[in-house]
Amino acid sequence: MDTDVDAEIVIVGAGICGLATALALHRKRIKSVVLERSEIVRATGAAIIVQANGWRALDELGIGSTLRETAIQIQRGRFISLNEVEPMEFPFGVNKEFRCLKRTDLVKVMADNLPTGTIRTNCQVLSVELDPVTKFPHLMLSNGSVLQAKVVIGCDGVNSAIASMFGLHRTTLRLFSTSVARGFTNYPNGHRFSSEFVMMSKGQVQLGRLPVTDKLVYWFVTRLRTSKDSKIWKDPVLIRQSLMESMKGFPEEAMEMMRNSKLSFLHLTELKYRPPWDLLFNNFRKGTVTIAGDAMHPTGPFVAQGGSASIEDAIVLARCLAQKVFDNKNKTEETAINSAMAEEAFDQYVKERKMRNFWLSFHSFLVGKKLDTTSSIIRFIILAIMSTLFRDPDWHSRYHCGNL
Ligand SMILES: Cc1cc2nc3c(=O)[nH]c(=O)nc-3n(C[C@H](O)[C@H](O)[C@H](O)COP(=O)(O)OP(=O)(O)OC[C@H]3O[C@@H](n4cnc5c(N)ncnc54)[C@H](O)[C@@H]3O)c2cc1C
Ligand SMILES: *[C@@H]1O[C@H](CO)[C@@H](O)[C@H](O)[C@H]1NC(C)=O
Ligand SMILES: *[C@@H]1O[C@H](CO)[C@@H](O)[C@H](O)[C@H]1NC(C)=O
Repeated sequence: MDTDVDAEIVIVGAGICGLATALALHRKRIKSVVLERSEIVRATGAAIIVQANGWRALDELGIGSTLRETAIQIQRGRFISLNEVEPMEFPFGVNKEFRCLKRTDLVKVMADNLPTGTIRTNCQVLSVELDPVTKFPHLMLSNGSVLQAKVVIGCDGVNSAIASMFGLHRTTLRLFSTSVARGFTNYPNGHRFSSEFVMMSKGQVQLGRLPVTDKLVYWFVTRLRTSKDSKIWKDPVLIRQSLMESMKGFPEEAMEMMRNSKLSFLHLTELKYRPPWDLLFNNFRKGTVTIAGDAMHPTGPFVAQGGSASIEDAIVLARCLAQKVFDNKNKTEETAINSAMAEEAFDQYVKERKMRNFWLSFHSFLVGKKLDTTSSIIRFIILAIMSTLFRDPDWHSRYHCGNL
């Protein structure tokens, strides 16, 4: 390692994307440092749906089989419309591998597979600048220190500080009119929901329910954002109360699930996104800096792919970087990265990910806008676009990001 840099590769953010990137690089015998602003590595939002493409990516990282033991496989789906006098039910299929992971399990398994000392907590990055002479990035930290790196990968989520280097400022984020609450309910004697994903809908309120294990159930409620939301979002008791008010007319079983939900995992989230076309007209590399995960493509959760797409990003990025590093040197030796290698690798990564992330983001955008609108004309137009572009509703889970 050169003496004039503090770290070769710095990853900003120890969320799903940052940890997956560090792990993918580690599997390729490339060292990195992950800077996380929180005191501990944690993941808010209870659980995350991981579909077949996500499992393929987790297998590439070598942690698929460990994680499969933590969550049951969802076998089928059922949609229940509560708008009619009598509830109407429609079955729907779920793709080959579909499980709901506890977020804490996912980040813990990733972090546990990294060499000790990789993650530095309590370390917030304020901004990144390229040195006018060396062209290497400098990271300004909130404690006043400046860190010099050769390569920076911004995995710092929706409100990314690194994304502003690419002209993607926080102010360019937009809000869906729908907000989402998520949580867990524990059934000490087992829940009897079998392995079914159930969606219930009444007006503009939707409830999703998925078993994680025989005793633990993950649920989410989407509904139009209210003026009250900004006052209650820090208070789980008030969130739960407000959810149950908007869920009037839902079956007693659903209300009981809400009543018994674990307060410590209950969250209400505003849904931010960047217009999908921003992904087409941006070059996500500046010098030896790039971004990945929600920092690059905040999409809203409507196709349940944001997390899996972040893991795909990590694999493609590590593969591109490793190819450049190993092309240049003897394959078993650790090689210093130079800026030309990193720039070429990042250009390749951005190119490989562009259309995949665009289509995911566009699909999620359409589903989100369909929930947002009260106009039946707009809803009809959206449905028409969706049935043309996304005739196979599971197209996104059939994707394979390739080997690491
Ligand atoms: C309601 C909801 C439901 C969802 N459901 C699903 C689902 O079912 N399936 C799915 O695949 N996806 C889902 N997603 C999307 C998924 O959660 C995200 O795509 C994923 O968490 C993105 O990971 P990330 O690592 O890019 O960002 P984050 O998870 O946001 O992680 C960013 C990390 O960076 C840290 N950080 C931020 N700024 C700085 C800084 N300046 N310096 C240092 N550290 C910093 C943060 O503390 C955090 O640890 C959902 C999202 C929402 C909102
Ligand atoms: C600031 O944080 C970094 C990274 O955690 C650390 O290396 C550095 O010593 C800290 N600087 C000060 C002045 O505390
Ligand atoms: C790496 O390269 C050196 C010389 O370039 C060679 O002597 C050594 O055997 C190589 N290592 C392996 C494991 O191939």
